[in-house]
Amino acid sequence: MKIAVMGAMPEEIAPILEKLGVYKTTEYAKNKYYEASYMGADLVIAYSKIGKVFSTLTATTLIEHFGAEILLFSGVAGAISPELRIGDLIVANKLSQHDLDITAFGHPFGYVPEGAVYINADSKMIAMSKEVAKEMGKSVKEGIIATGDQFVANEQRKNWIGDTFEADALEMEGASVAVVCDALNVPFFILRAISDAADMDAGFSFDTFLQSSAKESAEFIMKMVDKIVD
Ligand code: ADE
Repeated sequence: MKIAVMGAMPEEIAPILEKLGVYKTTEYAKNKYYEASYMGADLVIAYSKIGKVFSTLTATTLIEHFGAEILLFSGVAGAISPELRIGDLIVANKLSQHDLDITAFGHPFGYVPEGAVYINADSKMIAMSKEVAKEMGKSVKEGIIATGDQFVANEQRKNWIGDTFEADALEMEGASVAVVCDALNVPFFILRAISDAADMDAGFSFDTFLQSSAKESAEFIMKMVDKIVD
């Protein structure tokens, strides 16, 4: 089985490459893809660069060019839910694009014709993540993740996203990866560790906690991979 593990930033996949140690690097479409054998499975790993466009390109490439059959995303997010603290993990059960707006034509936020406001993540991998969390002695929140091409550092915008999409966390790639995987029938799992609260301190908090939170997420993702290949 070929498993894709994706992040948006180098920091988000670095702990995974470190754990693998040996991998083959291929350059394709102005990006680097890392391939390795792992416990009898084939892994292909990449960071996309930030945002919906780059993550769409990378997710599509992982599937269409490298032949990934399932995709796991690891990274960091801004918290909306007050339950979520720095370093906490959230698994997306569904994802939406908070900056997609053709409301001028009477459509809801996040919707375009022939699309959907929410894309559901793979329920089997969500269930598996609960087992992994138990085994690791960690708690993982399941919730809605909202995605947009904005680093949100504004309480008002964050609250609007929370109210409009019932979202628990926000980031910049999950929903675009979800759209790709859904369209290409590839089961996907999006995990994020909280790096900030999407408020006025978000920039500082993100810089401070990117590495540690990315590591939390990556460690969990590799336990997921262990279980998938088991
Ligand atoms: N990823 C992590 N924190 C974020 C924020 N505040 N806004 C957008 N994406 C993020």
